[in-house]
Amino acid sequence: VMVVPPIPVIFVGGVTGEWRIERIAPVRGESLPSAARLARIEGTSPPPSGVWTLRGTTSNERYVTRAEKEALRAAQPVLGRSESTRAALIPVRKSAAWWELAQDERRQILEERSRHVSLGLRYLPAIARRLYHCRDMGEPFDFLTWFEYAEDDAKRFEELVAELRRSPEWEFVEREVDVRLAR
Ligand code: HEM
Repeated sequence: VMVVPPIPVIFVGGVTGEWRIERIAPVRGESLPSAARLARIEGTSPPPSGVWTLRGTTSNERYVTRAEKEALRAAQPVLGRSESTRAALIPVRKSAAWWELAQDERRQILEERSRHVSLGLRYLPAIARRLYHCRDMGEPFDFLTWFEYAEDDAKRFEELVAELRRSPEWEFVEREVDVRLAR
């Protein structure tokens, strides 16, 4: 079934779903309860019940330039590749200080100071990704970030995550949980 953007998503941690939960690690702030499996449901299908549920939606991009948008479009792979047997769900909440900044100041931190986009582009097409927003939905996080990759690229993904967490942008992260998955 084709779903027209913006695409709603529900992540359910519980006993059903395509992904086996390998670990749930709090990076900053409160963790999420442990669960055995994760379901990622896009669109309007009814979600299974579970231990925890996180909701979000795809949206328009906020920060990328035309050149970055084209570079991303050219390099980014689709989700659901058969070789993508590893995945990460990383919910992130940013601080009030971040949200009080102006758009140009946030862009400055995200890219000119932290190189989020240019750094991330170096990991394409190994990593497939989707960004969901949930700040305006009364959810505990601002973003639900989703990544899929092959087992052979797991080490590279760790490098990328570690580098982003050392960046100035991450000084504005006040809650982050790292959920790692396999299928
Ligand atoms: C795999 C390579 C990656 C690429 C190519 C990439 C690219 C991007 C881009 C282009 C945006 C901005 C979208 C916009 O204009 O609104 C973005 C936002 C974001 N990314 Fe990444 N990213 C990558 C990896 C990661 C990783 C590993 C994490 C988490 C550890 C992450 C967390 C986020 C978050 C939380 C946002 C939203 C930031 C905000 O709007 O304040 N990204 N990413």
